[in-house]
Amino acid sequence: MRKFILAAAAAAIIGVPAASMAKPMVMKFSFVTSMSTPKGKAAAVFKSEAEKLLPGKVKIELFPNSELFNDKKALTALALGDVQFIAPSMSKLGKYTNKLGVFDLPFMFKDMNAVSRFEDGPTGRKLLHSMENRGYLGLAYWHNGMTNLSANKPLLLPSDAKGLKFRVQSSDIIASTFEQIGANAQKLPFSEVYQALQVGTVNAQGNTWSNIYTKKFYEVQTDFTVSNGRIVDYVVLVNASWWKGLPADIRAGLAKAMAIATKVNNENADKLNAEAMKKVAAAPHVTIHHLTEAQHAAWVKAMHPVWTKFEKRIGKDVIDAAVKANAGGTH
Ligand code: LMR
Repeated sequence: MRKFILAAAAAAIIGVPAASMAKPMVMKFSFVTSMSTPKGKAAAVFKSEAEKLLPGKVKIELFPNSELFNDKKALTALALGDVQFIAPSMSKLGKYTNKLGVFDLPFMFKDMNAVSRFEDGPTGRKLLHSMENRGYLGLAYWHNGMTNLSANKPLLLPSDAKGLKFRVQSSDIIASTFEQIGANAQKLPFSEVYQALQVGTVNAQGNTWSNIYTKKFYEVQTDFTVSNGRIVDYVVLVNASWWKGLPADIRAGLAKAMAIATKVNNENADKLNAEAMKKVAAAPHVTIHHLTEAQHAAWVKAMHPVWTKFEKRIGKDVIDAAVKANAGGTH
């Protein structure tokens, strides 16, 4: 303390404001994917922009690959203040809000533009606040991409999936989607998927190309289907009272850095997934299957009853808004 007062006095004499001598606020950002995924790259942009906009005031530490927490633990850690930024896939948030379950519905969005329209529209904006009563505030949505299925046999029709054990994210909606077609669903954290596929605890999965490639799922699966069955997108979450209690200049700088990172992410995610798909396809033992229109329609039809099953839980208004966004509107 005495040292600080002396240093501050010395700084005042030579004209350096005492505040600039303060140590930067250290903020941890934890996520489960690698640095070379859309989320990892976006987190790196957020860090560099935030540290550029708030020089000496903030230091953002990145923890990829579930190094610090898996998604479930990260949510508890955020509430406790042990981490300041997390970006879980929305499929992990069913315990905190039912509304974001709209993102888990099979074949909800036809492409990434439809996802953007929904997220940027009034309903999407409102949903960023859907966990505020639980202490979490959504700052932004970050895209990853659409899921594609894999197994050690071709999955061309829903009946091909019968009896398989699919690893699913911790979402009742996603589990129900696979049960609907006669498959088994096993909820597992992302960090455990590779090993579970390797030892056969599960023998099928669905994820984005960037996740499949960076976590090497293609090493332990032979057949991949371009199914585009579901969106994997993220919400960047902070502890609402921590965020509101930040000094205004810091909050504004972080919000600006987040807007820049979000824009970069959402412009690059498609490209990263396309590149990852090519790399998966290049593995000698891998076959990539493209569905015919009739095969695609069969998956949509077989999985669709899940929409009715979860309509009440998610909210018809939310599903209707997503349907309208899909058709070209922003609702
Ligand atoms: C998963 O668990 O498969 C994904 O949610 C991981 C991620 O963050 O993309």
